Amino acid sequence: MVDFEVRLGVPDDAAGAVDCMRQACGETDYLKTSPENFSLTEEKEREILANPSTEGKYLFLFFAKVDGRIVGSASLSGNSHPRCGHMGVTGISILKDFWGQGMGRALMLAILEKGRELHLHGIHLDVRADNERAIGLYRKLGFIEDGRHEDAMRVGAIYHDLIHMTKIL
Ligand SMILES: CC(C)(COP(=O)(O)OP(=O)(O)OC[C@H]1O[C@@H](n2cnc3c(N)ncnc32)[C@H](O)[C@@H]1OP(=O)(O)O)[C@@H](O)C(=O)NCCC(=O)NCCS
Repeated sequence: MVDFEVRLGVPDDAAGAVDCMRQACGETDYLKTSPENFSLTEEKEREILANPSTEGKYLFLFFAKVDGRIVGSASLSGNSHPRCGHMGVTGISILKDFWGQGMGRALMLAILEKGRELHLHGIHLDVRADNERAIGLYRKLGFIEDGRHEDAMRVGAIYHDLIHMTKIL
């Protein structure tokens, strides 16, 4: 098991975070962003990390680091519709070499803690129906499957269903 730490992102994480997210998109097609569509820049990432919460909107990023290198990330963002603002949305990705070592769990626990700190009512996410590892992690942390979007993701010529999961905090 590798030693790692999970921290809320700061502006100086920008370059490492972009490298990690770009690599993660190329290593798995479970993510919604494909390597061809990856457009996040270091400048944009720095801006987000410097101002995670502005004008009622928020995007908090947590990173898992090994020897100072970012190898995983998780996001918590807000819903801009006022009547849905009590729910947050999360997403997570970890570099393949580091799967199965507890980083997903640690990142998601940080997201849940942040959600409680923000007084959110709950957090939801979408996950590809065949992503057993991710669904296993979310179930263990108390997320409940509450919907299925048929053919919502297309990877090449293959359509995949997305499962909607919610955890009430
Ligand atoms: C999905 C992902 C975030 C999980 O993170 P991880 O660090 O590999 O997972 P962890 O090591 O923290 O394992 C979490 C739990 O899931 C369980 N788990 C692992 N593989 C599983 C499987 N195939 N089926 C069911 N449960 C599984 C583990 O037993 C573990 O439970 P435990 O903490 O009680 O032992 C990571 O593998 C990843 O980034 N994958 C690619 C991108 C992705 O799929 N992102 C999610 C998009 S919705």
